[in-house]
Amino acid sequence: MQLSTYFLETFGCQMNVLDSQLVEGQLRALGLRRVAIPREADLILFNTCSVRQHAEDKVLSRLGQLKHIKRDRPHTIIGLLGCMAERLREGLFELNPHLDLICGPGELDRLPELLGRVDESGKPIAAITGLQTRRLVPAERSLLDDPLETLDLSRRPLPGDSIMQSYVRVQRGCDKFCTYCVVPYTRGAERSRPPGNIVREVQTLADAGCREVTLLGQTVNSYAYREGQTPMRFADLLRLVHEVPDIDRIRFVTSYPADWDDDIFRVMRDHPRICPYLHIPAQSGSDRILKAMKRNYTADSYLRLMDTARQYVPDIALAGDFIVGFTGETDEDFAATVDLVRRVEYKQIFVFKYSPRPGTAADRSLADDIPQDVKARRNNELLAVQTAIMERQKRALVGRTVEVLVEGYSKAARRAQKDAADSNGSLDPENPTTSPLDDVAASKANQLIGRTPQDIITVFPGDAAHVGALVAVRVTDASALTLFGEIESVVSPAKMPANPGT
Ligand code: 5AD
Ligand code: SF4
Repeated sequence: MQLSTYFLETFGCQMNVLDSQLVEGQLRALGLRRVAIPREADLILFNTCSVRQHAEDKVLSRLGQLKHIKRDRPHTIIGLLGCMAERLREGLFELNPHLDLICGPGELDRLPELLGRVDESGKPIAAITGLQTRRLVPAERSLLDDPLETLDLSRRPLPGDSIMQSYVRVQRGCDKFCTYCVVPYTRGAERSRPPGNIVREVQTLADAGCREVTLLGQTVNSYAYREGQTPMRFADLLRLVHEVPDIDRIRFVTSYPADWDDDIFRVMRDHPRICPYLHIPAQSGSDRILKAMKRNYTADSYLRLMDTARQYVPDIALAGDFIVGFTGETDEDFAATVDLVRRVEYKQIFVFKYSPRPGTAADRSLADDIPQDVKARRNNELLAVQTAIMERQKRALVGRTVEVLVEGYSKAARRAQKDAADSNGSLDPENPTTSPLDDVAASKANQLIGRTPQDIITVFPGDAAHVGALVAVRVTDASALTLFGEIESVVSPAKMPANPGT
C-alpha cells in the first residue's frame, strides 16, 4: 500500500528533537504529510527516551493505546524509534504485537528502506546498532564513514519550517559511562562529526533564515576531530562556526566538567555572538557520590571551574543538572549538593530523582536504596533553594535593558487569540478594539516571548512583525523564571516571514 500520512511524537532530549526533524525530512521526501492525531495516520512513530524509567513508562502506555488503532485500521504501521528501541530491542515485539518497527538512534538513516520492507512484507523489523560503534578505537572514529552523516546533512529547510533557532549535532554518543546513565549504551561510542560538515550545515540553516544555532553533544566540550596531524578541539570548532555570517547567536549543550578546557572560555569572551550561557551538569555536590557516579571531578574543582567561568565571562549564566536520591545518598551528601547550588547561583537547574537503569554499572552493583518519598523531598528542597536564588537574580534585572530574540506569541497569547477566534472575534492582536476580547485577554493576546543571550525567558507586548527580530526590552517586572518588559527598540528586524504559531 502507499503510505500518505504520518504522526510523529518526540520524547526526551534535544538530540531527539533534532533526530525527529531529520526523520520528518525523510518522510517528506517520501511524499508523506504530517497529521496531528494518530488515528488519522498511516504511519505512527514515537521517538523515545530511556534516560529514566518514567520516560519509558509514558511511551509504553501510549504504545498500548495504539492497539485499538491497529485493530480498526490494520494497515497502519507503528514504529518505535530512538533510545528505547535500542535498549529494549526485539523484546518490545513480544509485549506489543501491534508494533511493526523498532529503530535505534544509530540506524535512523535506514528508516525509508525499513519502512518499505515492513510495508512489503507485513512482518516486524528491528534495526539495532548494538556494539558496532564501540568496536572502533577513538582515533578511528573520526574517520568512520558514518552513514548517519548523510542524514544530518540531508536537512533542507522548507518555507514555514521553524528554523530560526536550530540544533546542529557536533558529536554522537558518549564515552563517559557515568554509572547511572544509559546513554553510552543507547547512543553508542563518542564520535565527533567532521568540522566541514558542521559548518556546511550551519551555513545551510543561516541561508534559510536561522539566527541561533545550538551545537549538540552529550559532552559537547569533549569534541575532538582528528584528521592528519592537528586535532581540532571544541574551542577551534566554536571559532569556525562563529565565522558563518548571519548567525546571531551560538549556544552549545551539554558540557562535561572534567573535560573542560579554558580555551573555550577565551573563545566565549572574544566572540560576542557566542552566548554567555553554559549548561554544565554537576549532578551532586558530594565527592563521595560524585565518585560513585564516576564523574571524574570533585565539588571543589567544579566550583573553581564556575569561578573561572565568571572571571572570563562575567555575565555568564550557568545551568546544571542534579540527580537526587542516588544510591547511598545520605542527608550529609544531599546537604553538600544544596551547598553547591547555593554557592554557584545558577540561572537554572534541572533536578531528577535517581532512576536505576538496567545494564548500567550503578544498577548492576548498587541497590536503589533511597525511598521514593525521600527522593521527592530532596527534589523539592533543592528546587526551593534554587527558586529563591532565581527570584533574587531576576529582580536585580528590573530596570535593565536586555536583548531578546523574539520566538513568537506566548502560550497565553495564542490561547487568548484562539478564544477570540472561537467567539468569532478578530484575530488581529494589534487591533483589539475590533475584537470582543476584554482588556485582560487583549493584553495577553499581543504578548510575545523570547530569550536573552543568557537564555532567560522574556515576555512583552508587541506585534507579528517583531517575531524573528532581535529587540531591546526594558525589564519592568520579574518572576523566578520570567522577565516582563516593554520593547525599547528593534536591534535587528526579522529575516524571514513571521511564523507566529511556533
Ligand atoms: N536517573 C535520574 N536522572 C538521570 N539522568 C541521567 N541518567 C539518570 C538516571 N538514571 C539525568 C542527569 C543528566 C540528565 C540529562 O538526566 O542529570 O544530566
Ligand atoms: Fe550520561 Fe555521563 Fe555521558 Fe552525560 S556524560 S550522557 S550523564 S554517561
